[in-house]
Amino acid sequence: MQLASSPETSATSAPYPFDIRRISDVAGAEIFGVDLKQPVSDTLKDAIMRAFLEFHVLVFRGQDLTKDEQHQFSLNFGTLEHHVGRLADGTPFPIVHTVTNLDADGNPTEKTVAKGNYHWHTDKSYHAIPSLMSMLHAKEIPPKGGDTQFANTRMGYASLSPAMKERIADMQVEHSWEASRRNVGAPPPSEEQKRERPPVTHPLVRTHPDTGDKTIYLGHHVSHIVGLPKDESDALLEELTEHTTQPKFTYTHQWRQGDYTMWDNRCLLHRARPNYEVGRDRRLLHRTVIIGTKPY
Ligand SMILES: [Fe+2]
Repeated sequence: MQLASSPETSATSAPYPFDIRRISDVAGAEIFGVDLKQPVSDTLKDAIMRAFLEFHVLVFRGQDLTKDEQHQFSLNFGTLEHHVGRLADGTPFPIVHTVTNLDADGNPTEKTVAKGNYHWHTDKSYHAIPSLMSMLHAKEIPPKGGDTQFANTRMGYASLSPAMKERIADMQVEHSWEASRRNVGAPPPSEEQKRERPPVTHPLVRTHPDTGDKTIYLGHHVSHIVGLPKDESDALLEELTEHTTQPKFTYTHQWRQGDYTMWDNRCLLHRARPNYEVGRDRRLLHRTVIIGTKPY
């Protein structure tokens, strides 16, 4: 295994026990020379988490994990979370579920794509305890496009004017599964799903629990800012979303088959891009999500 360190590694921090290269100044580093099928030592796990906090998006190249192997690897980083949605037949998603444009017969189609993912969001912010980390493993990738885009909400917050920081400092935002569906034009959830997932409120300005950085916490699961008139809430949410998703704060990941990505939902928004031939080319990834902590 090659020993290398990123350009950012200072004399006071240990080098990474793998070959790691920054992809973007916003977020993202690619890692070579680690086989995620193998058991993860404490040393390796600590190094992965260190890199995760430094780069926010990690991309392990050239992996080939089964769903069971992805399940085992994911468990190194916390408790796995089930998905709130249902498959077409009404059954819950499996713990390692599939993100794809393939139908039951394995043919590409627009119909199976969760189009809500085309909108900026942070995973499961409609939960009182939202996601810490999401992982996607690319099994089949279109020859062109099908990208995933990330926006750095720490940079977004840091670049706000002092007046805006003061204005939003104590704001609370309601997030809900129902609002999420409404915001993307999807059919409303069932009464049972609404009972299972009542609305929650989170601070608009979130403190990253591991780094202490302040971030803007919003996305398409948001209903409104508590206590503001609807027009004002809508306008402010739009302004902040546009601000933190400017190209200078985003990284677009162009997938390679075998990529295994891990990203930090506490300081990033993300969205899928429909920039491929959805009805023609195959795209299939396996997903796992790790539960986080209550935002503050
Ligand atoms: Fe997502």
